[in-house]
Amino acid sequence: MCGIVGYIGQKDAYPILIKGLQRLEYRGYDSAGIALINGDTRTYKTKGKVSDLENYCEGKNISGSIGMGHTRWATHGEPNDVNAHPHVSMNGHFVVIHNGIIENYGRLKSRLKTRGYNFKSETDTEVLANLIEYIYLKGKVSADVAVRLALTKVVGAFGILVACKSENNKLVAARKGSPLVIGVGRGEYFFASDASPIIEYTDSVIYLNDNDMAVVTKDSLQLMTINNDKLEPKIQKLNLDIGEIEKGGYDHFMLKEIFEQARSINDTFRGRVSFDKQSLHLGGLYNVTDKLVAAKRIIIIGCGTSWHAGLVGEYLFEELARIPVEVEYASEFRYRNPVIYKDDVVIAISQSGETADTLAAIKLAKENGATVLGICNVVGSSIPRETDGGVYTHAGPEIGVASTKAFTAQVTVLTMMAVILGEKRKTISQEKYLKLIEDLTLIPDKIDKILSYNEMFKHISEKHKDSENFLYLGRGFQFPVALEGALKLKEISYIHAEGYPAAEMKHGPIALIDENMPVVVIATHDKSYEKIVSNIQEVKARKGIVIAIVTEGDTVLKDIADYTLEIPEVSEELAPLLTVVPLQMLSYYIAVLRGCNVDQPRNLAKSVTVE
Ligand code: M6R
Repeated sequence: MCGIVGYIGQKDAYPILIKGLQRLEYRGYDSAGIALINGDTRTYKTKGKVSDLENYCEGKNISGSIGMGHTRWATHGEPNDVNAHPHVSMNGHFVVIHNGIIENYGRLKSRLKTRGYNFKSETDTEVLANLIEYIYLKGKVSADVAVRLALTKVVGAFGILVACKSENNKLVAARKGSPLVIGVGRGEYFFASDASPIIEYTDSVIYLNDNDMAVVTKDSLQLMTINNDKLEPKIQKLNLDIGEIEKGGYDHFMLKEIFEQARSINDTFRGRVSFDKQSLHLGGLYNVTDKLVAAKRIIIIGCGTSWHAGLVGEYLFEELARIPVEVEYASEFRYRNPVIYKDDVVIAISQSGETADTLAAIKLAKENGATVLGICNVVGSSIPRETDGGVYTHAGPEIGVASTKAFTAQVTVLTMMAVILGEKRKTISQEKYLKLIEDLTLIPDKIDKILSYNEMFKHISEKHKDSENFLYLGRGFQFPVALEGALKLKEISYIHAEGYPAAEMKHGPIALIDENMPVVVIATHDKSYEKIVSNIQEVKARKGIVIAIVTEGDTVLKDIADYTLEIPEVSEELAPLLTVVPLQMLSYYIAVLRGCNVDQPRNLAKSVTVE
């Protein structure tokens, strides 16, 4: 939710900021702006994308070796030029960019108004800029002290960069709840919401923790807490390849990421599947294995696609390890006073590791004494730092807003966990344990095989791109996949889509079915196969259009369904890793054919760091 980038050094800041904003645009893209400092301070901002900002800056003075940039996902105030960041304080002393929400902005704004401040925008960020300025002028303190004191008065989440007109050789950075990374170069520093804008300049980074603040000139960095305790910066090495964050010849990041899934799942396996395929090891769980094995209950929390992965996890843990599982939306869990026992194991799933609701749910679980584990993709993000243990998915950077390879990597990790637990709890036989490991390692090649049916995905998409509604049905392990398929379609193509357990169709959704309704049914060979064939018959009897995801060689459904999309033979427990792939491809092509912006769908952002 909003991307921030900054530079202080000897180079021209402008190209570094623009490139950085392009990398962060997945975080928000309704308006963008920059501030450049070169003796004087200039801000340029506009509604629209980073490319609109570049056009806007053409012919303007873009000099300056200090600067900051912002790409916005609106929270307070509609997307327009005025609400775009940076925000300049009323008397022009401070320039601020911000990712997060100042929850008490209303009260702070009223107080500042009584002290003569007026406001141009509707944003909470302008309130912060004015608060900093008020403290600076009234208290006659330095810029960094003013920032620090202002932050002690703020309730909410922030990742901020601040520049001061009269102390124009430094930038002040601070974070609470919204991520901020500082890249350390020679005589220069870089700032960003994630490491992607920094990687081509330096691999030495400092991840700010909550309540950290850094005062940075081109030659120095002082780190402290917002309460003014001095801190020693901890420089870490980045393990990220520039190729991973570029499109690599694909039209969209989403397509690239779908096609990367064989590779990303192999990366998830790396170092975890033994060379002889006889055992699985998840190093991040070593110190909590006993708790997991003894767990009376697992609670899985997440949002969106990560929640869907959690639902697959429920089927896996219950089937293979016989541990009862509850799957909760993090946003519901955190506010509904849930019953949490000390011997519960809570697993938080998140691609970004920064989702605000998931972080708050983790906090609640910890306060209640549960053991909390994370399954995250972004290394060094907040969730892995807040949890007692966990597993990185290692899917590599996911830039497309629609989550694809992160989902299959999350499900891969959950499968490995369930298989390990099943073996340790003796709820699966040794033979089944070995078979599941063997079958898991075959998944990447099977995904590549499914992706070779590209023309079929395009053909079906062409035929049904203009439908107004879609229904997705699945049973058992395939029910969460049906939900995920519906989410993929609606978020990038804006077609209304619903996912249902197939048997529930009779309890309402069947009323929607007519000759205009495409129904995507996951009908692979498993114990519900006969039942789902009956569900398909029920759809056909009402003239619905059936797109069936079937197991290779299925002849029954070839005769009944309007279209069949095949997946290779696979055990029931691992099938979600394959059946989701055709659904991702259908969504992708339908969205492209409808002229939608696949990687940056309207109203969405990749990482939801506000509640
Ligand atoms: O980073 P997270 O996995 O915590 O994000 C959760 C959701 O915001 C995310 O999965 C969202 O639903 C995706 N856009 C789905 O494609």
